[in-house]
Amino acid sequence: MAERTELNREIARLKKSKNAVILAHNYQLEDVQLVADFLGDSLELSRKAVELTQSLIVFAGVKFMAETAKILSPEKKVLLPRLDAGCPMADMIMVDDVREMKKQHPGAPLVTYVNSPVEIKAESDVCCTSANAVQVVTNIPAKEIIFVPDKNLGKYVQKMVPDKTLFLFEGFCYVHMRITSDEIVEMRQRHPQAKVIVHPEVSPEVTMVADEVLSTSGMLKYVARTGHREFIVATEQGLLERMKRENPGKAFYPALTPKICSNMKRTTLQDVFDSLNEEKYEITVDPLVGNNARQALQKMLEFN
Ligand code: 13P
Ligand code: SF4
Repeated sequence: MAERTELNREIARLKKSKNAVILAHNYQLEDVQLVADFLGDSLELSRKAVELTQSLIVFAGVKFMAETAKILSPEKKVLLPRLDAGCPMADMIMVDDVREMKKQHPGAPLVTYVNSPVEIKAESDVCCTSANAVQVVTNIPAKEIIFVPDKNLGKYVQKMVPDKTLFLFEGFCYVHMRITSDEIVEMRQRHPQAKVIVHPEVSPEVTMVADEVLSTSGMLKYVARTGHREFIVATEQGLLERMKRENPGKAFYPALTPKICSNMKRTTLQDVFDSLNEEKYEITVDPLVGNNARQALQKMLEFN
């Protein structure tokens, strides 16, 4: 394996010669975050994929994110450095599940969290991310809505939009489900001045004891602009690395023990180099499924 500085140099050289760009999610390993041209949450990275003029994208994240970039920008070549970087929540739901829910709730539009397979997006009226789920559900002209696959995000949205009825699927994120309200209470005792900020994929018991419920980039914006100096951050550890780096005067604590998404941590700097160098692994989406999924994703982007 090459040295880190040499890899950084080679990645910079390849990016230039191939006119490529690296997008990375906030949960990526720090080495990978540092080499990215754009770092963000699912919504920001989706938007960025559309805006970019470069035709080669290396997506350091998990598969559904690279797929979303490809669907929104079918003319670009999108590479995922590790094919085994999936999202277990996305894999929990199948097309038959949503067809059954549609049968049970005829006429109810389907809102799908982007952490889902492309085939589910293709069945959907509109997609959402953690950053805009409340806004999408608020604005969709229906009183009854099918919301998949994350039951925790769904319960949070239901709480924020009480005049509508959401029919939820039983999906969840194993990383965020590991965070307990007891941990938060214990951390509050240790750091009484700290604000508790949580991702909406945590359970309702945890959102109940939080000060703010925000997407990963929502959390970044909050900690940067608020006058508070200490934070208990209930989400994946990669985000805390970025927070510490960008806010040197402030203190960030995980929810008792750091929570790690092993899928997000699969991609190393070497993988990013290999991906750029060998142009692997190219993401492809069936054109028909991709066209239907694109409509649901584009509708989501129009909501903001
Ligand atoms: P964000 O869109 O908030 O970054 O979340 C993505 C994700 O996978 C959370 O687990
Ligand atoms: Fe999926 Fe959870 Fe990992 Fe996000 S943190 S990619 S939802 S498993």
